[in-house]
Amino acid sequence: MKKFLLILIFTFGFINNIQSQKDYSKDVENLLKKMTLEEKIGQMNQYNGFYDATGPSPSGGDAKKKYDNLKNGLVGSMLNVRGVNEVRAFQKIAVEETRLGIPLIFGFDLIHGYKTIAPIPLAESASWDLNEIQNSASLGAKEASAAGINWTFAPMVDISRDARWGRVMEGAGEDPFLGSLVAAARVKGFQGNDLSSPSTVAACAKHFAAYGFVESGRDYNTVDIGLSTLHNIVLPPFKAAVDAGVKTFMNGFTELNGIPVTADSYLQREILKKQWGFKGFIVSDWGSLREMMDHGYAKNRKHAGELALNGGSDMDMESTIYIEELSNLINEGKINIEQIDDAVRRILLVKFELGLFDDPYRYCDLVREKKITGSKEIMDGALEMAKKSIVLLKNNKKLLPLKKNGQKIALIGPLAADKNSPLGNWRVAADNNTAVSVLEGLSHYTGNEITHSQGIRLVNKIPDGFHEEVQINNTDKTGILEAKEVAKKADVVIMVLGEYGFQSGEGRSRANLDLPGFQQELLEEIHKVNSNIVLVLMNGRPLTLDWSSQNIPAIIESWHLGTQSGHAISQVIYGDYNPSGKLPMSFPRSVGQIPIYYNHKSTGRPGADGEDAGSVFWSHYQDEKNTALYPFGFGLSYTSFEYSNIKLSKNTLMKKNDELTASIKLTNTGKLKGKEVVQLYIRDKFASSTRPVKELKGFKMIDLNPGETKNISFKINSKMLEYYSPRNIWESEIGDFELFIGTNSSTERKASFELKSLN
Ligand code: BGC
Repeated sequence: MKKFLLILIFTFGFINNIQSQKDYSKDVENLLKKMTLEEKIGQMNQYNGFYDATGPSPSGGDAKKKYDNLKNGLVGSMLNVRGVNEVRAFQKIAVEETRLGIPLIFGFDLIHGYKTIAPIPLAESASWDLNEIQNSASLGAKEASAAGINWTFAPMVDISRDARWGRVMEGAGEDPFLGSLVAAARVKGFQGNDLSSPSTVAACAKHFAAYGFVESGRDYNTVDIGLSTLHNIVLPPFKAAVDAGVKTFMNGFTELNGIPVTADSYLQREILKKQWGFKGFIVSDWGSLREMMDHGYAKNRKHAGELALNGGSDMDMESTIYIEELSNLINEGKINIEQIDDAVRRILLVKFELGLFDDPYRYCDLVREKKITGSKEIMDGALEMAKKSIVLLKNNKKLLPLKKNGQKIALIGPLAADKNSPLGNWRVAADNNTAVSVLEGLSHYTGNEITHSQGIRLVNKIPDGFHEEVQINNTDKTGILEAKEVAKKADVVIMVLGEYGFQSGEGRSRANLDLPGFQQELLEEIHKVNSNIVLVLMNGRPLTLDWSSQNIPAIIESWHLGTQSGHAISQVIYGDYNPSGKLPMSFPRSVGQIPIYYNHKSTGRPGADGEDAGSVFWSHYQDEKNTALYPFGFGLSYTSFEYSNIKLSKNTLMKKNDELTASIKLTNTGKLKGKEVVQLYIRDKFASSTRPVKELKGFKMIDLNPGETKNISFKINSKMLEYYSPRNIWESEIGDFELFIGTNSSTERKASFELKSLN
């Protein structure tokens, strides 16, 4: 019986494997042969949902034109169509009314959960927990696919060093190593092992490339970076996504070194499709073909189509340029049919792999939609992810965790009872006000007396006409007095401050990174009457917290944690979860330090003793330190950890595959069980192109009981020392290296070794 079971498991596993790796090239070719030029171009055309497909069809205007195109097989994909009924209705037109019946692929911004919202991606990255991140993506895929979606425009893998840029909330932070691992985890989570399963969706690595380097952090702004930064910092997470099997890419709105990325053939054709062997397709960003005219790169729409296709863009999102111009361009000999065929092949392949040709309605099961949406499994996963995403920034005199009984708590701040902001930005399918607020979360603990006062009110605003936004009032501060009265009577004050949910995200750049509105004033006023404050921050990006870091005894960075926010925060406040998150982005002391990131280069004048060099002529500010307030990798626990005894098994790597072991002793010196993310950094002391002062090269998550010690080790080999060199290849160079192991990127605990030979 056992043997039979084993055979069954193997056979099933094998078949499964074959299914997921099935070669569809013949199916694709056969279909391609049947297609007219118009139908081919149609596959490259993507529309936003332009009418309610369960109601009457459009009778005039632009919608009618789009509807006619849809019926004529001139649409390959739709975005923002969601819910089984809607998706099925559109799919039915494509499958039953067009000549060839080619199914549509339905794209959606599944950025951090569908209806059940997980923490914003930046927060998830703060967990450094790749399994949990993968699981979070896979639960998101499960819920979205049950609502008819089969393609997500995620993960966003843009590295950014600029917290002014609102879209840092969508990414994994500033580091290419962590960013690459997170990118791969998210791709695997979305796509699973079998893309044709109705519970998985095709992923999309975006925005190719370098969107995170917009000048001055202003969204959509110019990007101008060197080849070294492009290859060493920007591209690795994209490559990791390709290696993890990502099915699609999205380019972007920005230009890179003078060329809009939508038309950048070096990026799209040379690197992605040729060097990396990417077989999937590239979708443009929303209207980014059209925007090339504003960039001053395309002279008119037709020219934009020519540039985009020659540059390697396969699908046009919402510019309607491909559908209108590509056949003219063919006639004029400006583009050729091979380019069209290549794009269409790529699009059809993903559709085959999703199983859409076997059953175009495989994502359209009403019973499943009902069962999966908001299910316990998905809710539990969101809570687990939320707890792990929290970073403890400060905890003086062990103010946290709070006692569960007999305390008078003042809960103050505009975000304390807010059920909308914790959902963050990019949560299109979530219902408003569905997050558990901090007030609700704390109310589950009944031993303390909580008095709530907003201090500063929230107001409703609908600035972009499509999100219901709650914003922090910045005209009325009369509530501060009442809040002070409440604070006076309390043993401890919990203040929930930060950014409202839509204050970060696309188009939400900020020139100031302090607590918006009157919140800083509120904080300081409360501090005057009761300084026993736990500051809970909700925000989508690093903030400047200099005053708080000096005056507030306990600070919890909770980001925008999603649906389960209040439960996760309360469990941390009361010690039912011991925080273990680490910052994926440096927190500046002031905006003037930006861009600030741990893996910077050394200048020729680094200062003899760093900050205290004393003289004028070294690389520093007159009025600010050089260091971050909270560096990359920083995060505390309710217990304490001690690092000691850093050791190398040897000090030289003698040949290419040689390896040494670096180890360190880690002891839990506190009274609670805790988890520490042990981080390994390496510095290449000199090279044919200058190298950063430190680069993350590994990390391990270690659970320790009080008093327990573990020996933590990392293997070091020459592969880990490679970088994109001035010879335009990835290589390691012989020479001296320093290796650091510690609790965050500022660690100075180090050992030295030499890479002696590569033969
Ligand atoms: C964003 C993309 C997004 C697309 C579709 C654009 O504005 O830049 O990241 O996927 O819209 O919603």
